[in-house]
Amino acid sequence: MKVLLLYGGRSAEHDVSVISSRFVGNLLKKTGHDVFPVFIGKNGGWKVENRTAAIITEKYPWRIMLGTAEFTPDVVFPVLHGPYGEDGTIQGLCRTAGWPCAGSGVEASAVAMNKDLCKRVVAARGIPVLPWISVSGKRIPGKQEVHGKLGYPVFVKPARQGSSVGISRVTDYYELKPAIMAACEYDNLILIEKGIENPREIEVALVSDGGAIRSSMPGEVIPGKTWYDYEAKYDCPESVTVIPAGIPASLTAEARTMAEKVFSILSCAGFARCDFLLDSDGSLYFNELNTIPGFTSVSMFPKLWEAGGVPPEEILNGILTEALERYSREKSGTGKEPV
Ligand SMILES: Nc1ncnc2c1ncn2[C@@H]1O[C@H](COP(=O)(O)OP(=O)(O)O)[C@@H](O)[C@H]1O
Ligand SMILES: [Mg+2]
Repeated sequence: MKVLLLYGGRSAEHDVSVISSRFVGNLLKKTGHDVFPVFIGKNGGWKVENRTAAIITEKYPWRIMLGTAEFTPDVVFPVLHGPYGEDGTIQGLCRTAGWPCAGSGVEASAVAMNKDLCKRVVAARGIPVLPWISVSGKRIPGKQEVHGKLGYPVFVKPARQGSSVGISRVTDYYELKPAIMAACEYDNLILIEKGIENPREIEVALVSDGGAIRSSMPGEVIPGKTWYDYEAKYDCPESVTVIPAGIPASLTAEARTMAEKVFSILSCAGFARCDFLLDSDGSLYFNELNTIPGFTSVSMFPKLWEAGGVPPEEILNGILTEALERYSREKSGTGKEPV
C-alpha cells in the first residue's frame, strides 16, 4: 500500500511525533508497504526530504506531488500527537481530500482531544471521572469554589494538549493563578481537576475492526517523579512501565470494560490508548483517551500488544486495513459510522 506518513506537526509534541514516526515508518516498510513520509514543520509547512510537497486539488481524490512525482495515497497514517494532528484537523483534511485515514475520524478525534468535552460526554454515560471546574478567558475561580468542589491538590490543565505540556499540580489557592496563566499559554479553555495523591496510572490499548473492539491487558506507569510530567515521561530513567499492571483481576476486568466502553461512546476507530487513575481506595477513574498514542519501541501501546503475543507490525496492518474498510463502507453508502 502507498502509505502517506504524516509526522512532526505544529503541536508542542512535535519531537515525540518524530520519534514515533521512525518506529512506525520502519515497521511499515518491513511489512512491504511503500511509505511516503511527509514532515510537517512546527511552522506548519510540509516537506519531503527538503523538497516541496504540494496537494493537487483538480481531481478527486486529491493527489500529492512530492518533488516531481505525483500520486494518490492508498491511506494516510497521521503519526501526529496533540493539536493540528490528533484533534480532527488532519482527519478533516483527509476526508475532504478523499483519502482513507488511519485511526479515529473527525468527531472522535476532536472530542477525545478536548479533556473538558470528553469528560462531559463519557460522564453522561456513567463513566467515573474526577470532578473538575472548567474556566476560559483567564478567569480565576474563587477560593471557596475550588475548596468546596475540589479541595487540594488540583491539576490545572489546558483542555487540548498532551504530554503533560502546560499542566501544573497545585497545592494551595495562591499557586492557582500562575498555574492558570501557564496553561493559558497553550489553550484558552482550562480544567481545574481534583487531584489524587499518589494515584496509580493504568493504561489499556485498544484496536477495532469495524464492529469489534479489542482491549489489551492493562499496563501501569510508575513515574519517577511526584507525577507524570513532561520530564518524567521523556527524560527520567526512574520512570518505569509495568506490564501487566499488578492489580487484582477484578480491576483488570473493570479497566478493560471501561476502556472499550469509552472507545465506543466516543465512536473511535482503528486504535487508541485509554488512561485511568486508580485511587488508594480502589476507585478507578477515566482520565483521558489518546486517539494517536505514542508509538515508539518503548511506548505503552505497542508494548501492551506485544506482551499479549501480538507483534506491532500486525497491529499496524490491522489499523491500515480497518481504515480502508471503513472508507469503502462509506463510499458504497453502507457505512453509517462517523469517519
Ligand atoms: N486528577 C489527577 N490526579 C492526580 N494526578 C493527575 C491528575 N490529572 C493528571 N495527573 C497527572 O498528570 C499527568 C498528565 O495528565 P493528563 O491528564 O494525562 O494529561 P496529558 O494529556 O498531557 O497526558 C498524568 O499522567 C498524572 O501523572
Ligand atoms: Mg496523559
